[in-house]
Amino acid sequence: MLDLRAQYESIAPEIRAAIDEVLTAQQFVLGPQCAAFEEEVAQACGTGYAIGVASGTDALELTLHACGVSAGDEVIAPAFTFIATGSAVTALGARPVFADIEPATFNLDPLRLEMHITPRTRAIVAVHLFGLAADMDPILALAAKHGIPVIEDNAQSMGAGYHGRKTGSMGRAGCLSFYPSKNLGAYGDAGMVVTNDEKLATRLRALRNHGQTGRYLSTERGWNSRLDELQAAILRVKLRHLADWTAARQAHAHRYNSLLRDLPGITLPRVPDGREHVYYLYTISVSGRAPGRLAGGAAGKDPGGATRSDIVQQRLADRGIVSVVYYPVPLHLQPLYASLGGKPGDLRISERAAREVLSIPLYPELTPSQIERVAQAVRDSVRD
Ligand SMILES: Cc1ncc(COP(=O)(O)O)c(C=O)c1O
Repeated sequence: MLDLRAQYESIAPEIRAAIDEVLTAQQFVLGPQCAAFEEEVAQACGTGYAIGVASGTDALELTLHACGVSAGDEVIAPAFTFIATGSAVTALGARPVFADIEPATFNLDPLRLEMHITPRTRAIVAVHLFGLAADMDPILALAAKHGIPVIEDNAQSMGAGYHGRKTGSMGRAGCLSFYPSKNLGAYGDAGMVVTNDEKLATRLRALRNHGQTGRYLSTERGWNSRLDELQAAILRVKLRHLADWTAARQAHAHRYNSLLRDLPGITLPRVPDGREHVYYLYTISVSGRAPGRLAGGAAGKDPGGATRSDIVQQRLADRGIVSVVYYPVPLHLQPLYASLGGKPGDLRISERAAREVLSIPLYPELTPSQIERVAQAVRDSVRD
């Protein structure tokens, strides 16, 4: 799915020089690299402030806390996302309330949001999944009507555009992950919060460092969630390449689009007008009946429970092509959240997405012949 070694080899001298600089300075936590990286990310995201933290999960947890979420509160989030979106809520003792998504974008459906708002709703987390912005205008309008902050989970979509704005800059705050596989990936864990709210930024700076507002002076309970200098220095090098890497991802996605169009039962990623997709993942949907020998079960399922997407995935594997289902179990059906009472059928679009999605390899260093090989394997694998 990813060739981090190829990326490293293309920038190794710059990375080694950056690491050397930190080793020479011997300052490892919250130093000049972190401060410079925060400024550069704020500028890249179009926000006034950025606060480096230890991971994307921490970025979400600290931000939710700083926005007033605490035990017993409810936070609305999409069911179709990575588990961390939910864990950040439960870590605060709050209750995630899962909402359904739009089939075309896999992001929160603004039309299915309002029914989840109660007097206990303290925040909405809008996830920009797979590299594509959620439909923020109606989400922000609804949240404003109810006086609820919107927090953007921008772990997967740094640099994506929505009607001229960047993801992460539209809500109260945006939370970034620099997990190694992300479009901007560290060599370890790292994350950041971006915001235009100065007071929130000041609070987050204290929260990430034991609630300290002065030298050895803590005014509230905080976390140890700091971005270290080695990661910041590495990420600064990589940030300089991000625009080129994103352009390569987009070019590869367009190539897949033309090589895979018109396949029966296959839906390619769709990009609504006014949005710029950064293709963290290239995710197709495989719908329709199970092929050939497996037909006869419920729509899209063979009697043994395999979906058509499972079958395509197996056929791709037989041809030496990796594909991954992000994500096979929506959050309302995760065993972790059984106590919240979610049942199959509650959020049908999320459940259908979980059955149908398949992500195929897409990263900047893919070569044209690799793309053609993957596309040919997909074409062969979807034949009944
Ligand atoms: C949608 C989403 N939210 C949150 C996270 C958490 O980020 P991290 O792994 O840096 O804690 C991730 C990624 O891992 C993610 O994909």
